[in-house]
Amino acid sequence: MRRSIVPKQIHLAAQLPGIHNVTVWSDPRSGSQIAIGSFVHLARTAERGKFDFFFLAEGLRLREHKGRVYELDVAGRPDNLTMLSALAAATSRLGVAATVNATFNEPYEVARRLATLDHLSGGRAGWNVVTSFDAFTGENFRRGGFLAEADRYTRAAEFLATARELWDSWDGGDVPADPVSGRFVRPGAGEFAHHGGHFDIAGRFTTPRSPQGHPVVIQAGESDAGRDFAASDAEVVFSKYNRLEEARAFYRDVKGRLARYGRSPDDLRIMPTATVVVADTDAEAAAYADEITRAQVSPQTAIAHLEAVWGRDLSAYDPDGPLPDIDPEPESLVLKGHSVFRTGRAETARRWRALAEERGLSIRELVIEVHGGQTFVGSPHTVADAIDHFVQTDGADGFVFATHLTPGGLDDFVDRVVPLLQEKGVHRPDYTGTTLRDHLGLRRLPGTGRTSGTASAQREGSAS
Ligand SMILES: Cc1cc2nc3c(=O)[nH]c(=O)nc-3n(C[C@H](O)[C@H](O)[C@H](O)COP(=O)(O)O)c2cc1C
Repeated sequence: MRRSIVPKQIHLAAQLPGIHNVTVWSDPRSGSQIAIGSFVHLARTAERGKFDFFFLAEGLRLREHKGRVYELDVAGRPDNLTMLSALAAATSRLGVAATVNATFNEPYEVARRLATLDHLSGGRAGWNVVTSFDAFTGENFRRGGFLAEADRYTRAAEFLATARELWDSWDGGDVPADPVSGRFVRPGAGEFAHHGGHFDIAGRFTTPRSPQGHPVVIQAGESDAGRDFAASDAEVVFSKYNRLEEARAFYRDVKGRLARYGRSPDDLRIMPTATVVVADTDAEAAAYADEITRAQVSPQTAIAHLEAVWGRDLSAYDPDGPLPDIDPEPESLVLKGHSVFRTGRAETARRWRALAEERGLSIRELVIEVHGGQTFVGSPHTVADAIDHFVQTDGADGFVFATHLTPGGLDDFVDRVVPLLQEKGVHRPDYTGTTLRDHLGLRRLPGTGRTSGTASAQREGSAS
């Protein structure tokens, strides 16, 4: 694809992962996965690199493998919104984006907490609206599997619409705090009434309008319903497609859906998850990347992932040997709470078998192959060129980088690659705005007739 005259700006975000096997917690350089110091280090590194935002995923139940806590990945996490509140105070420009589930929470509570995060960060809040609904997680909320899979996006859409009604129940000028008239607040401030299939609530919302009006809405899901939800309601898609050809197909598909909702392709940023390995030379980086991938897919992890797909105990199999010749039991769940292995396991097993046979791969080699290894590997110049090419040829609008080391895993990228992206003119030399929506270059609020809340925030600022 030909490079356009004005190159696209690359949007960068950082994630402290912890949930999947990206994190190598057993590495001697790994620090705490829960101490605030680790989060602050990574967030400040991202801010030094002028990233758009810092991101946290969420798992609402400890995963279990064959009846025990799954501890090959990091287990145990702090609460996202609480951590991001602390990070908002430890940074000044970086966006702070929380994954918060729309199935097990209530709109009033989530809207209030996100509006509060937007207030205390000065307009830097983002919300990744996820729809995990499994009964295993639901047990933690005394609801079990109360929601059918087909209903999770209708609930999520109504959840988001309700949150927007709550945020819009306050206007920027609703707190005159005028001692002359004795009027602190507009009489109708915060009034709302939502009567829908999932939520039937009315009353007054407690939190005045926040700087962005609405926190930036992020979506992460890939089904047809998920893509439509992204096209109608999201401002950022967090995607798993980080191999160029499939990423381009996903990008085309999702951007192509926006017109149906009266939106333009530029109203949505698509940002796949990615990893990056930088060293002095391409050869050194390749060797290091191989080492990292083998730590991420240990012999035990390879067997556990195979068991998750096969639905059977395969501990007797040699990870360096061939795939089992016994058939999977796709109905039985040996790794609980892991969305990747939730559905389509018979088909996955068929694909894995075919791939292993075609290439002569052992169990561990197969899991490494499907795991995908590292996304960008090479010298700083090689990595900067590859990232730029990926974005300019419409594989993505940017990336959410997950690091294998907490908290120092982003240091090399920010020190050695970011300056090259800045030299190319595809990444900001400094922040030009103050809100997350400014960083993302987004002005309109999706799902409403309104523009971004910056103007109303300024009005509110001048009134108080
Ligand atoms: C890249 C990516 C990241 C996700 N992160 C989370 C997460 O942190 N927490 C969560 O509960 N679900 C997460 N999900 C799950 C989705 O929100 C959604 O529940 C799941 O993918 C099923 O939706 P789908 O059928 O539309 O893909 C993620 C999905 C993707 C693709």
